[in-house]
Amino acid sequence: MYLGIDLGTSAVKAVLVDGSQRTVASAEAALSVSRPFPGASEQSPEQWWAAVVAVCAQLRAQAPAGWTQIRALGLSGQMHGAVLLDARRDVLRPAILWNDGRSAAQCATLERAVSDLPQIAGVRAMPGFTAPKLLWAREHEPDVFRRVARVLLPKDYLRWRLTGEFITDASDAAGTLWLDQASRAWSTPLVAATGLVPEQLPAIREGTQATGVVSGPVAKALGLAEGVIVAAGGGDAAAGAVGIGAVNAGDAFLSLGTSGQIFVATGDYRPSPDAMIHAFCHCVPSRWYRMAALLNGASCLAWVAHLLGESDIEALLARVDATTDGSGELLFLPYLSGERTPHNDPNARGVFFGLDGETSPESLVRAVLEGVAFAFAESAECLASAGTAPERFAVIGGGSRSSLWMRILASALGRPLVRFEGSDTGPAFGAARLARIAITGEPVDAVCAVPAVRDVVEPDPVLADRYRERGRRFRRLYRALAPEFLR
Ligand code: XUL
Repeated sequence: MYLGIDLGTSAVKAVLVDGSQRTVASAEAALSVSRPFPGASEQSPEQWWAAVVAVCAQLRAQAPAGWTQIRALGLSGQMHGAVLLDARRDVLRPAILWNDGRSAAQCATLERAVSDLPQIAGVRAMPGFTAPKLLWAREHEPDVFRRVARVLLPKDYLRWRLTGEFITDASDAAGTLWLDQASRAWSTPLVAATGLVPEQLPAIREGTQATGVVSGPVAKALGLAEGVIVAAGGGDAAAGAVGIGAVNAGDAFLSLGTSGQIFVATGDYRPSPDAMIHAFCHCVPSRWYRMAALLNGASCLAWVAHLLGESDIEALLARVDATTDGSGELLFLPYLSGERTPHNDPNARGVFFGLDGETSPESLVRAVLEGVAFAFAESAECLASAGTAPERFAVIGGGSRSSLWMRILASALGRPLVRFEGSDTGPAFGAARLARIAITGEPVDAVCAVPAVRDVVEPDPVLADRYRERGRRFRRLYRALAPEFLR
């Protein structure tokens, strides 16, 4: 038995997977985000740990026999966050998350300090990444910065709680802006530009490697057998890829979770920072990937449903499908948390444009689904301009459960979308696969099979036609409004 734990933004998700790769139990515990000032996004690491304890208790209750047979566990998690520990290993402040926009000024400082930063780090400096957050702390919270003994990524804080080890994997290290992506090692000049030394950062392993065992007291508290191995694991984008077997050059998928990504695996390091594309290490050895990263995915649907007082999303989407047809003029810019690809604009915000007296709650929701789809389509063009244009995409993440949204997305992209069985637990399942490889030493390709296809969603020609001009207006609208977002 293998355990996969994914530290998401809205929940910790975990799966128990048996030797024939069947998911025998799954569990989830919700997390909340605090926004102490506009553009900020933080979480308490202690809340993460409490959620891990809660999902473990759920899994143990669902599969008591399987639980004691776990041999290895793998970790996946939200990328780019900064967890700061002092010399006594106490958390110094709430973790600053991937969708926090406070450090735009520090990004400019970093790019001035190291002129080839985008080529080394695989991406332009953007506020979501870890390095500019540390520079922000140095400038705005000097007392905290002075006491920083260790910086950890979110999932690696869980590893520390589980094993006492300070270790990350290459794919999560990739999202810090401190990694030399080509050599898969910390870049001394990039780390120095933030006022840190590599000794303050975790050691780097490949995602498939073991990083230690669950300590005795933690194993006892969680009811685990002795000596359960903890695999290095991966950032959620890369672990999600492993979950659906996207490990070889050209394998492509789109993830519609809280955030959104278009991910294409590569056999070598292929940076294209000017297109706002990320070129990062994969969580399996000697592989990389190219990614368009969108900060606002299914979080936009959760936001509008909450705003409208709707708790039953499925019923809401059924009403949207029955009463709207994509012919309206209403547009939604989905930039509730700013945007990375294609704009690198932490100050962008959400916009409804074209409201009239007939606008209904359903048409607002439809505009939100379409706005996220137009953002994906624009990002797919960024990837195409950088030479990567897959003919079709697999799709994972909670948003992929909605057939309406998939139809809208396929029509905006002009490409078919392939849904797999069980693909909404993606990164946790991928982490369980990495755990298996860490203990069995099996080849990556033997374990990372592509799951069974559930269905293929084709573009709807009528919608695709309507979306061509509306997609162009969507892009013009951001450009017209960009100077108006508060800086
Ligand atoms: C990837 C990214 C998100 C976060 C949260 O670059 O920002 O995937 O990892 O899911």
